[in-house]
Amino acid sequence: NGSKLWGGRFVGDTDPIMEKFNASIAYDKRMWDADIRGSKAYAKALEKAKLVTAEEKDKILHGMDQIHDEWAKGVFDVKPGDEDIHTANERRLKELIGEPAGKLHTGRSRNDQVVTDMRLWLRDAISILKGNALQLITTMVERAAVEIDVLFPGYTHMQRAQPIRWSHWILSHAVALSRDVEQLQEISRRVNVLPLGSGAIAGTPFNIDREMLRQELAFDDISINSMDATGQRDFIAEFLFWASLCLTHLSKMAEDLMLYSTKEFSFLTLSDAYSTGSSLMPQKKNADSLELIRSKAGRVFGRCAGFLMTLKGLPSTYNKDLQEDKEAMFDCYDTVHAVLQVTTGVMSTLKINPSVMEAALSPDMLATDLAYYLVRKGVPFRDAHGISGKAVFLAESKSIPLNQLTVEDLRTASPLFSSDVSAVWDYSSSVEQYSAPGGTAKSSVAAQVEHMRTWLKKQ
Ligand code: ARG
Repeated sequence: NGSKLWGGRFVGDTDPIMEKFNASIAYDKRMWDADIRGSKAYAKALEKAKLVTAEEKDKILHGMDQIHDEWAKGVFDVKPGDEDIHTANERRLKELIGEPAGKLHTGRSRNDQVVTDMRLWLRDAISILKGNALQLITTMVERAAVEIDVLFPGYTHMQRAQPIRWSHWILSHAVALSRDVEQLQEISRRVNVLPLGSGAIAGTPFNIDREMLRQELAFDDISINSMDATGQRDFIAEFLFWASLCLTHLSKMAEDLMLYSTKEFSFLTLSDAYSTGSSLMPQKKNADSLELIRSKAGRVFGRCAGFLMTLKGLPSTYNKDLQEDKEAMFDCYDTVHAVLQVTTGVMSTLKINPSVMEAALSPDMLATDLAYYLVRKGVPFRDAHGISGKAVFLAESKSIPLNQLTVEDLRTASPLFSSDVSAVWDYSSSVEQYSAPGGTAKSSVAAQVEHMRTWLKKQ
């Protein structure tokens, strides 16, 4: 243990199983670049505080650049004693530049170092995810614009409800994703706060210029309390929740698409590029992309719930439990990153079958319109609903479609029906009634497309 950076007070070695149990290098090495950036900034602050000379600082910076090269080239040699990325980089620095390496950690703790690294790493990850999400939203909005004229059945409770535009369905999911992007932006404000200079718990006793560190590392703010800074992982919890909600949105969309792609529906066909086959049944084309998108929501939610469990009841400030934050963060990032890209692929390549979609509309889906016909003749909606319901019952008992009822049949339900009722049985004019903002009329959907295009430009 003598060689460990905390080895001074120890006698004898760590149990090998404990050594492995304790180590996080296997996964936190992903933060090598963030760790180096943080250390370089810290070396400059040490110089300003006169804790290292200009020459020592230059040595540290140069050594760190060499370490950067080794990681970038994939030749950094992780040694068995390297507990985590912080230990590994410092061990290597010592090998490369000798003594001044030992001054780098002055006034710093891995407690403020690790959380600085994570914030730097997550900041970049968030901007990549934002790009992925925007690409998906763009794909969806442009698809909605092109396919604006296609009508198909809208469902509530998975029962046939009202005719809607296919583009209206697409945009319903794009809008949810736009909220995800906005929420991600919100989170990044809280991610972008610098903890470095908090030490292990009490702060820094040296003249470490935290404002200078903030500028060097391009954070928006510095943390206001060293105990909070080192002991909280709210920004990770928020990110995990964000990932859960975003994938909840995408799993809903995947579920709809899966249903629409079945032979029974045949509203659309998934590209072969996003489908797989069966090892036994030659005819099969399975929507594995969609099933995996749906399932990843469960995985990510598990990470979120698991980490919240870890946080619950922890005493103040840093505890080793917090080391569990990283695998949750990396896994959620990797998962959402992949899901967003696959969903973009699915959405940009699937082919819709407009004639089947429109043929799936049926007159019963216009029962509400039949009630509105009466409303327009002055009947209170509640009564009109009842009258239309009677007409539905009549058609069902005669085993005919609703629009095949004669005016005489309809008059048994209300004397207000006359021959102009035939105009009700038109799907295109039905959707065109919904022209208020947010509705499924062409003008309203076109306005939604424009709204989303403008929103996209602002991102
Ligand atoms: N690998 C540790 C983590 O990820 C770094 C912080 C260790 N701090 C400590 N006091 N042991 O949390």
